[in-house]
Amino acid sequence: MQFKTIIEPFRIKSVEPIRSTSRAEREAALEVAGYNLFLLKAEDVLIDLLTDSGTGAMSSGQWAGMMLGDESYAGAKSFFRFETAVQQITHLKHVIPTHQGRAAERILFGSVLKPGEVVLNNTHFDTTRANVEYRHAEARDIPIREGRQPQLVHPFKGNIDLELLEKMLAEEGDRIPLVMITVTNNSGGGQPVSMANIRAASEICRRFGKPLFLDACRFAENAWFIKMREEGYADQTPLAIAQKMFSYVDGCTMSAKKDGMANIGGFLALNDDELAQKCKNALILSEGFPTYGGLAGYDMEAIAVGLHEALEEDYLRYRIRSVAYLGDILTQAGVPIVQPPGGHAIYIDALGMLPHIPQHEYPAWALSLILYLEGGVRSVEIGSVMFGHQPDGSEKPAAMELVRLAFPRRVYTQSHVDYLAEVILYVNEIKERIRGVRIVEAPETLRHFTARLEPVDVSLIV
Ligand SMILES: Cc1ncc(COP(=O)(O)O)c(C=O)c1O
Repeated sequence: MQFKTIIEPFRIKSVEPIRSTSRAEREAALEVAGYNLFLLKAEDVLIDLLTDSGTGAMSSGQWAGMMLGDESYAGAKSFFRFETAVQQITHLKHVIPTHQGRAAERILFGSVLKPGEVVLNNTHFDTTRANVEYRHAEARDIPIREGRQPQLVHPFKGNIDLELLEKMLAEEGDRIPLVMITVTNNSGGGQPVSMANIRAASEICRRFGKPLFLDACRFAENAWFIKMREEGYADQTPLAIAQKMFSYVDGCTMSAKKDGMANIGGFLALNDDELAQKCKNALILSEGFPTYGGLAGYDMEAIAVGLHEALEEDYLRYRIRSVAYLGDILTQAGVPIVQPPGGHAIYIDALGMLPHIPQHEYPAWALSLILYLEGGVRSVEIGSVMFGHQPDGSEKPAAMELVRLAFPRRVYTQSHVDYLAEVILYVNEIKERIRGVRIVEAPETLRHFTARLEPVDVSLIV
């Protein structure tokens, strides 16, 4: 290609207006929302980077596919198109539709886990962890050491620690019914996992007779990183790379709200006939008949098309570049972020940026509020409000205080990202004036969703 500018590989056929608000309006909105961005009305947000899950724009191909939706209760054509699309990528034998990723997790763990057992994972996503713990089992994270150091640059920071994997299977194998690898590693900063790591983990698991599952939410983004960074894959298509990733595993859980490019949906796919039957029986109990799970026929059509659109090279090049583009601007300006930028989000290191705010005054939460107050940008805190409350009621600071800016797929253009960068750089300039927050009221569990807070000082900025 002669030109180096990477463009959005789509043109826009339908637009949804976003609304500018004044700073005074945002200040009032924050007060009404109890200084909790989850409690804002979405219409009061200009650029919404709360999550990349289910927030993407569907293509004309997906909308057209939806019109073919077959809503038959059993054996619908839409199911078979969905199953074929999943099997073309994964080659897994049984495909079980679910209403989203966490339902696939619940059904899988409900079918294989007993109390006191352990699941190993590079890093469990919070719903995955919660579904393991709901079975009174342990969700144990074993990422490589580099994965826990925000500023360190490593091409595959999402890798699972192979030495620990082998050691734990050798010492505690009786208690470990399965191993998972999350691609990309969302809770670890959206970092990719290398093919060599998946292959080696698979060899270890086979040696110990344990099934290996992928948490495959962002399988296409992971395939792109392998293509870009791992020797021997530059000339392969993302589809071929994804197929190879799946060839090393016995099953996967999937939230189609990410690389399924859909607003809702997910699936569980696996090879084991007996386990599949058990999972299908559990599915009928709470999700639905095995040929629709928790989905409408038209949802399965949208996912069938979306899974393959997520593997298109132009799309992946634009997707990964738009996240890195923001990362480059912030890095050049000295804003501390998790390095290198991950596939779906930029994570600002609030402890590094706001060292004057102690962790018990929630620096990452405060920073996320300021990004909204100054620029109408909604992000999410991944820090001590989210993780600090312990099951025994005590408070323990989180390992990191991060603000995640997650990019919805195919929604925002480069000028939105330029605006976003301007807002963050401005906030970085006034960072010494930012003050912390305290919790006024919060529920016992998952408090970040509904807690109400207030500034510790007269206002958020002094
Ligand atoms: C890595 C990972 N696993 C599982 C899930 C759960 O998927 P869902 O939100 O569709 O239930 C998510 C959602 O963000 C995720 O990022």
